[in-house]
Amino acid sequence: MPDDTPSSRSLGKTSPAGKSPGASPSEISSGSLAESAADDSMDAFLEEAAAVSDPAPSAALAVFPMAVGEIVGNRFRIEGLAGSGGMGAVYRAADLTTGARAAVKVIGRQSASIRARFSREGRVLAELSHPAIVRYLAHGVTGHGHPFLAMDWLEGMDLAHRLARAPIDVDDSFVLLRRACEGLAVAHAHGIVHRDIKPSNLFLPGGDPARVKVIDFGVARFEEASAPLTRRGSALGTAGYMAPEQALEAADVDARADVYALGCVLFECLTGRPPFLGRHASLLVKVIREKPPRPSDLRPGLGVEVDALMGRLLAKDRTERPGDAAEMLLAVDAVRAPPR
Ligand SMILES: Nc1ncnc2c1ncn2[C@@H]1O[C@H](COP(=O)(O)OP(=O)(O)O)[C@@H](O)[C@H]1O
Ligand SMILES: [Mg+2]
Repeated sequence: MPDDTPSSRSLGKTSPAGKSPGASPSEISSGSLAESAADDSMDAFLEEAAAVSDPAPSAALAVFPMAVGEIVGNRFRIEGLAGSGGMGAVYRAADLTTGARAAVKVIGRQSASIRARFSREGRVLAELSHPAIVRYLAHGVTGHGHPFLAMDWLEGMDLAHRLARAPIDVDDSFVLLRRACEGLAVAHAHGIVHRDIKPSNLFLPGGDPARVKVIDFGVARFEEASAPLTRRGSALGTAGYMAPEQALEAADVDARADVYALGCVLFECLTGRPPFLGRHASLLVKVIREKPPRPSDLRPGLGVEVDALMGRLLAKDRTERPGDAAEMLLAVDAVRAPPR
């Protein structure tokens, strides 16, 4: 595959520390390394582990390069690096049992919390079967001891790349939204909250909004999980798409945070920008306090009913939002009749 494929290009955005600015889960945390053993706050863990054990935490990637030709899990032959983000690297591979292409996501550092987190992503995906959710193939540990997750290879580009190329028209935006909602509704019905819905975690096979697939359940959680999965004071997610309650108190996040994030994605598809702009704390303050702009002010021609829908999806008070993705679909249908 040529080097300029969208998936490869996402690597180009990656900083030497293996994180893409603005694309990886943001983290506001305090606390010690010992505390984090029981939680799944990946970024907090990586940062703290780096601070404690590795004064030069450069490149999670550099410590676990998978060689082309390497066999993972007795089943997947690595063909090349496809992309990377907050968690690790995604490789293109051949599934030797079927001959099909596969994507193998590998994370770089081992620890109890990382393993737990990653195997949960595997378990989450294994439970979910829907055309709008990337299909799970296998998970396990590589020969070098790094946890991996294998899924169907998707040819195309993620929505972040798609949005960077050209605006999406209004009809396509709603087609994409509906389908992403349908996928997330299945996750929500299983008690799973994605918690990091954003354009780079929505993949468009063939660049087609109608075929969108939700990827990267890396910070997902089971709602009924007994142990608190994020430390108090720690927020996982990505600031520009993060619900106010997720920014404030990450431990108490439910499906309505995904509804909010998907609302932000719709906002960006319709207007070319997320509802709130800014960096770091100033962005979070806006997320928590400011009213988002009206979409129709940014894209003339959008009706007041789209403004009203957006007002509900982006409500600061989550009790004013649809309760989950299935309810969100109904709210969307009420504004725009589903295509027949
Ligand atoms: N199944 C796949 N097929 C092709 N490319 C993929 C696949 N999964 C992920 N990618 C690419 O790799 C990037 C990072 O993957 P993701 O699962 O989001 O991991 P991270 O936790 O690093 O964000 C994605 O944004 C996408 O461009
Ligand atoms: Mg991602």
